[in-house]
Amino acid sequence: MPERTLIIIKPDAMQRALAGKIITRFEEKGFQLVAAKVMVASSELAAKHYAVHKDKPFFEGLCKNFSSSAIMVMVWQGNNIIELSRKLMGATFAQDAQPGTIRGDYSCTKGFNLVHGSDSPESAKYEISLYFDEDEIADYNLSNSRWLND
Ligand code: RTP
Ligand code: MG
Repeated sequence: MPERTLIIIKPDAMQRALAGKIITRFEEKGFQLVAAKVMVASSELAAKHYAVHKDKPFFEGLCKNFSSSAIMVMVWQGNNIIELSRKLMGATFAQDAQPGTIRGDYSCTKGFNLVHGSDSPESAKYEISLYFDEDEIADYNLSNSRWLND
């Protein structure tokens, strides 16, 4: 099975109507979208999502922002997607992210960095399970697509 990761279009990107552009970056890289939904995260879910940061000084503000309005939560798959999607997103603080990356191209701030991506196979597994049941993740089998051959 190809590697999977959890990608989230955060509230700032949703509010700025950047979802389409961000999805396009992942599609153009060659990754496959296998699950997606729009939701507002509760503060409990935000705290679970960012549990590794619970002792950091920025934890409360981070969870507050994350749960402030709609997000788009997605599972993407592809070769080495965890590492490659972090490169596609760019440095954590958007003001430091290189042009050509999502954060580098669409944000000049520090904290409003538009997008989240899992940072390891363990966190991808944990984060995907927070948002999706296994039967909500599509089997993306191109050979089943009649439109390719008609
Ligand atoms: P994310 O988890 O959201 O994809 O971001 P990341 O891996 O690039 O960065 P991470 O270290 O996991 O931090 C999670 C989020 O916390 C905010 N942050 N603020 N004030 C600070 O020093 C600080 N450090 C991190 C960022 O919004 C980051 O996305
Ligand atoms: Mg992180």
